[in-house]
Amino acid sequence: MSNRIRDLHKVPWWQRAVFYQIYPRSFQDTNGDGIGDLPGIIRRLDYLNDGAQNAASLGVDALWISPFYPSPMTDFGYDIKDYTDVDAMFGSLQDFKTLLTEAHKRNIRVIIDLVLNHTSDQHPWFIEASSSRDSPRRDWYLWHPGRPPRFGWLLGQRRRPRKPNNWLAIFELKGAWWWHRQTREYYLGTFTRSQPEVNWRNLELREAMYDVMRFWLDLGVDGYRLDVVNWFIKDDQFRSNPWSMVMSPDLFQEHIYDRNRPETHDICRRMRTLTDEYAPDARRRPNDERILVGEVFSRNAGLAAEFHGYNNDELHMAFNFDFLYQPWSARAFHQSIMRWYDAIPAGAWPNFTLSNHDQPRHYGRYRKPLFTEARARVAAAMLLTLKGTPFLYYGEEIGMDNLPIRRSDLQDPFGKKTWPIRKFGRDPERTPMQWDSSPFAGFTEHGRRPWLPIPRNSVRRNVEVQREDPRSLLNFYRALIAARKKHAVLQIGEITFLIPGTRNILAYRRDVQHDDGSPSIAVFLNFGLRRVLDFQRYLHPSERERFAERNWTVLFGTHRDAGNAVGLPTLQACEVLLLVSEN
Ligand code: NOJ
Ligand code: CA
Repeated sequence: MSNRIRDLHKVPWWQRAVFYQIYPRSFQDTNGDGIGDLPGIIRRLDYLNDGAQNAASLGVDALWISPFYPSPMTDFGYDIKDYTDVDAMFGSLQDFKTLLTEAHKRNIRVIIDLVLNHTSDQHPWFIEASSSRDSPRRDWYLWHPGRPPRFGWLLGQRRRPRKPNNWLAIFELKGAWWWHRQTREYYLGTFTRSQPEVNWRNLELREAMYDVMRFWLDLGVDGYRLDVVNWFIKDDQFRSNPWSMVMSPDLFQEHIYDRNRPETHDICRRMRTLTDEYAPDARRRPNDERILVGEVFSRNAGLAAEFHGYNNDELHMAFNFDFLYQPWSARAFHQSIMRWYDAIPAGAWPNFTLSNHDQPRHYGRYRKPLFTEARARVAAAMLLTLKGTPFLYYGEEIGMDNLPIRRSDLQDPFGKKTWPIRKFGRDPERTPMQWDSSPFAGFTEHGRRPWLPIPRNSVRRNVEVQREDPRSLLNFYRALIAARKKHAVLQIGEITFLIPGTRNILAYRRDVQHDDGSPSIAVFLNFGLRRVLDFQRYLHPSERERFAERNWTVLFGTHRDAGNAVGLPTLQACEVLLLVSEN
């Protein structure tokens, strides 16, 4: 991939974009039922990007919208009962079409969340498949008669067979096989019992899923966020997983038989050909590309990275979740970044994310009395200046936190199951977006309680208040996103590390090939709570001279004014400093 600025038009849009994840239940309610909806997203599009880079607009380029399909909402939409419609709670298919048109008008791309590993138990396919063992759709799901009961001979075989193996349902903390009384077989559900897993080895099922993908691509979506891609295929012999010492999220098992089967890669390749058909001339018109971003549910970065395909013929991007597990340390982040750069195949494009709807928000994760907000700035500056596509989670731009939820307010099935261990439930990071200082933070207007509580500090911490304050976190995000737009080197430039964590400083340079004449940018991030005197002393020896040769001025930062020379050789606690040097 060339990284010359003059070749910018050849760079696919998704490598240059800033993505923003919307959890639709929690973004904006328009009909007063206390639940966010698609018209709510439409209403807030100008906030996300008004297409004109006005000061009131954040400037993101693409949305990932979590599921809005018809669903009984056992897992809040990750249990789909109709793949080609919109749940009435969120609006209508027409609302979605309007959303797409309005987003595209503002140069915002939209990728939607597809959950193809399982359906809801209320999906007509499952209802049909479970109607009898001879149902033509029986094989669309995973059924098993079970193992002979222990001591069955004693009880005349009247007892229910044992579960086929030791696989576990992650949100139920129980075995993943659920007894279907009517047809006397087990079906598989490794999240909840209401999310039966489809049989991706069945070719008709595959075709049905590919048709689903075509449906939304035909409507004009820019791609998919694919839920748990590495779970699609299970071991054909249903072997038990070996036990392991890792409690979370692996439930003390090595998931070699219920996930991560090699055959899954064939499916990803097929899906890639399918999306590529929508951009036949992508080499010349990279902006036509429709993309696949896959969730590879695992802590193993190497395993996730494999889903790009060794020939880059699988997912455009496999989510890189490694930041979600890092302690607050420049060295830890440096190692995490390098891990991903090293893991992805040559030619694949990196990505980074700090928060999502399944993990505690990073604002709270990195809490430090008096420094929480400063840390949030360091984190944002890192996310938005590394080489790789950044994914933001709604509300992180105003510093939304994890809200402790009372037991009676819990919604998440996993949170209910693991109560009172707060660490696991996912409600705290899913609370409604904080728009203004009104009682329900502008999320809902008609006095009906929102589906999850809103923190009291939303009176102060909200979009309206922060918009007016030039020093707010929101304006900090806006400025970083604007800097990325203005300086394409931040989008596509190469990265060279200058300080890999020494003295808790992470520093790197982003630049393009020299003949290009475009500027280089150097980023200094002090993760520490102490000032670092003479920080240039810690530059890697091979970079020190090069750095000194150039004329750097401040582009942006937390402690210095833009346009000035570097000045003070001291890096303050949690200082963010971006320097620019014209070649
Ligand atoms: C991963 C999703 O991100 C999560 O929210 C969901 O509960 C599971 N997959 C099951 O679909
Ligand atoms: Ca609503």
